[in-house]
Amino acid sequence: MAINLGERSYAVHFRADGLKELSERIDVAARARRVAIITDENVAPLHLMPLLSGLNARGLSVTSCQIRPGEAEKHLGTVSALYDGLLGWGMQRGTLIVALGGGVVGDIAGFVAGTLLRGIAWVGIPTTVLSQVDSSVGGKVGVNHASGKNLIGLFHQPTFVWVDTAYLRTLPTREARAGFAEVVKHAILGDEPLLPMLTRPAPDLLSAEPEVLLEILKRAVRVKADIVARDEHESGPRMALNLGHTLAHALEAETGYSAMNHGEAVALGLSFVIEWAASRELPRTTADAVLAALKGLGFDIDWRAWVNRLNLEHLLDRIDADKKNVQGEVHWIVPRGAGDMEIVKLTKAACRQMLAGMLPKRTGE
Ligand SMILES: NC(=O)c1ccc[n+]([C@@H]2O[C@H](COP(=O)([O-])OP(=O)(O)OC[C@H]3O[C@@H](n4cnc5c(N)ncnc54)[C@H](O)[C@@H]3O)[C@@H](O)[C@H]2O)c1
Ligand SMILES: [Zn+2]
Repeated sequence: MAINLGERSYAVHFRADGLKELSERIDVAARARRVAIITDENVAPLHLMPLLSGLNARGLSVTSCQIRPGEAEKHLGTVSALYDGLLGWGMQRGTLIVALGGGVVGDIAGFVAGTLLRGIAWVGIPTTVLSQVDSSVGGKVGVNHASGKNLIGLFHQPTFVWVDTAYLRTLPTREARAGFAEVVKHAILGDEPLLPMLTRPAPDLLSAEPEVLLEILKRAVRVKADIVARDEHESGPRMALNLGHTLAHALEAETGYSAMNHGEAVALGLSFVIEWAASRELPRTTADAVLAALKGLGFDIDWRAWVNRLNLEHLLDRIDADKKNVQGEVHWIVPRGAGDMEIVKLTKAACRQMLAGMLPKRTGE
């Protein structure tokens, strides 16, 4: 599948167990026949060896760097250690960087590729559902800063992205399910018929026939690719990708990033915004299809229970501080229909009123 970005266009290849072809493609992309693989300590024991052997067998000079897994490692310290390792190894402009791992590895490795020696080529091999359908498409790379997530970074498109379902076989269920929350988001943004395909527990989807899983992944990527192609540098349509994320980010932060993972927060954020949308213009059938998919995947969609458990004012502060808050108003992405997003701009006071108006419905249940 082509990601159309003019001279920065690239392909996302979808395969089920295509390791041999992957080595060939990396060989072609590695102009100086030198490859540096960046991965993490969870992914390395599971998936690094076969890739290394394949590349070595083709006579490429390969090094690999492993970072500690997890979001907490996504900072400039990790980047700096990678610079040291790669320059010590003899990194050159023609060296190809390969990111083998989830979104954290992809964001860090892409950032290293974008900054080292003023930018070198890189290939993404995403190994989580989230990274396959979301973070590996669009070229946004970067790291967190103490004052916020993803504040340091750039756009640096890869040479190609390799989506292989074989990697998903080793993914813990909770991680896999988290990624499907983004698939649901993409379905609302541009592929409503995808929703009924998602009303199955995540482990069932992962063990479904490779063609079924590949079709789901492809269609989810297609939606993001189309949005990114219209808005590479996030000036307009790309904002729609924030669907469900305004409340999600606030819930994640307010629960200390421990009670729920990002996908679980997105499932709650989507449930909320879909209900709000249904009280405006979104057809009930579409809203029900979204909720059925989220429930079917095994997500908790009772956003009210979470909001009731937390301090509403603190949650509103988080919502108000969201980066999509422009000129004192929070910009909410609210679907009018699948593929048709409205931006509803609310002051903090209006957010309070809207949330408070939606809360009582089931209190006391
Ligand atoms: N650049 C973008 O446009 C963009 C978009 C969305 C999210 N992101 C970023 O993506 C990150 C989240 O990505 P993620 O959910 O993939 O998290 P992650 O990279 O932390 O991976 C989740 C966990 O699964 C492990 N893992 C990865 N692949 C595995 C496999 N095949 N088998 C077993 N374990 C495996 C990892 O080691 C990690 O512990 C966040 O930092 C987020 O900011 C970026
Ligand atoms: Zn997300």
